[in-house]
Amino acid sequence: MPTALITGGTVGIGHAFASALAAKGYDLVLASRDEAGLNATAADFRTIHGIQVEVIPTDLALRDDVLRLADRVESTVKPIDLLINNAGFAVHDSLLDPDFSRQQRAMDVMCMAVLILSGAAGRAMKARGQGAILNVASSSAVISTGNYSAIKAWVTVYTEGLANELHGTGVKVMALMPGWVKTEFHTRGGVKAHNLPGFVWVNADDLAKQALHDLDEGKVWSVPTKRWAFAVWVGRHLPRRATRWISRTLTKSREK
Ligand SMILES: NC(=O)c1ccc[n+]([C@@H]2O[C@H](COP(=O)([O-])OP(=O)(O)OC[C@H]3O[C@@H](n4cnc5c(N)ncnc54)[C@H](OP(=O)(O)O)[C@@H]3O)[C@@H](O)[C@H]2O)c1
Repeated sequence: MPTALITGGTVGIGHAFASALAAKGYDLVLASRDEAGLNATAADFRTIHGIQVEVIPTDLALRDDVLRLADRVESTVKPIDLLINNAGFAVHDSLLDPDFSRQQRAMDVMCMAVLILSGAAGRAMKARGQGAILNVASSSAVISTGNYSAIKAWVTVYTEGLANELHGTGVKVMALMPGWVKTEFHTRGGVKAHNLPGFVWVNADDLAKQALHDLDEGKVWSVPTKRWAFAVWVGRHLPRRATRWISRTLTKSREK
């Protein structure tokens, strides 16, 4: 059985990936902070799909935890065939705020952990001549709504760099750029999203299935749904002055 390791696999987009992969017969390794949630999710998957599920309680903001998880990623015992760096959270604090602790945590979880775990996976998979790494970025990467956009832009460019380095080795590497997905992300992060029109929302299960299909096809960037692919295309091709205006308008619309 192939094995997939997913960070943040108990809820939201990570859970949708875990469900889609379990249905395909993958064994799973799930890593996030909520140990009770990990155990409950693992028990569900074992019962429903008859797969093996390993749980590794991990706070990706803590370097020791990330290094411990990287050891599992690089292990030759039950090797990881697919790494999904999914864990993350909204960060929309002012860039002028003297308390930068949340920004630091965001960069540790969504940049440094991604770099360390992808490096471990890349080494192990290159040695075996096969495997796949999927990093969850965001369509926010093409605009400039604060440090969250900057972090997700880093994820997309970093992932392209990794894809270049692993080109021709048999290892697939892809950045996923979701639009707005109905998960706990907005409530947890205090993002005002209840007044958004229904058509902007993407279903997490549909997103995961499309992303896995795009990964199979060897895509390096995946933007599920035609409407979000169009939005990202517009964001990348408009003059930057226009994307800055859109970003300012979006940021103001979310202020409470
Ligand atoms: N929802 C959207 O509209 C949207 C759009 C674009 C991109 N994304 C990206 O998609 C990814 C998943 O988001 P989601 O919407 O599924 O959000 P979610 O429902 O809030 O889930 C976030 C997951 O990340 C885990 N996590 C957060 N901080 C962590 C830490 N320090 N260590 C380990 N795990 C941590 C959480 O687990 P614990 O709390 O148990 O640790 C949880 O499983 C994120 O990278 C997000 O930036 C989301």
